[in-house]
Amino acid sequence: MRSIVILISGRGSNMEAIVRAAQTEQWPAKIAAVISNRADAGGLSFAAAHGIPTAVVSNKDFPDRAQFDAALQLEIDRFAPDLVVLAGFMRILTAPFVQHYAGRMLNIHPSLLPSFTGLATHLQALTMGVKVHGATVHFVTADLDHGPIVSQEVVAVTDGDTVESLQARVLVIEHQMYPCAVRWFVEGRLTIKDGRVYKDIGAQ
Ligand code: GRF
Repeated sequence: MRSIVILISGRGSNMEAIVRAAQTEQWPAKIAAVISNRADAGGLSFAAAHGIPTAVVSNKDFPDRAQFDAALQLEIDRFAPDLVVLAGFMRILTAPFVQHYAGRMLNIHPSLLPSFTGLATHLQALTMGVKVHGATVHFVTADLDHGPIVSQEVVAVTDGDTVESLQARVLVIEHQMYPCAVRWFVEGRLTIKDGRVYKDIGAQ
């Protein structure tokens, strides 16, 4: 049985999608904990209601990134995770923290990387006038919003799109693709070689 720790900062809808998929699809994995850097993260109550241990490590309690990341790492490692899942975890991570979880930490980013890193990705997409947008699941490296790509899904950008409409459409695909990628990981189907992810998932 693999152990997963999910990190959130807010609503936690991706975390929720992963928890639901793990339960309904009976993954060989358990969600060992949901940890937030914000006590007011909406997703914490969903996790608690589903019997998942929750914890808060507030970045405001630490003078710098290094000390926060060290405390967060201690909290995460109490649950001995095989995989750490960043699900709307709004923090820039230090290199030692990322290195500690190398090859076992995933993130979802709401753009087709390497386009539109950072924040306000949907606004960036609309401003550039791209005709397709989407989301990317990738392994986390010290390079923000980069790292070996596990999966990407695309949505069309339409003439009438606003940031809100585009964000909503991308979120729908996030809720499908992130549980799928996490499941591949826990089933041992992902290999990283020379910066690329190879998937042993049969014909798609
Ligand atoms: C998602 O769009 C995710 O891709 C991005 O932040 C958002 C988090 O949403 N990293 P939620 O907290 O999972 O609902």
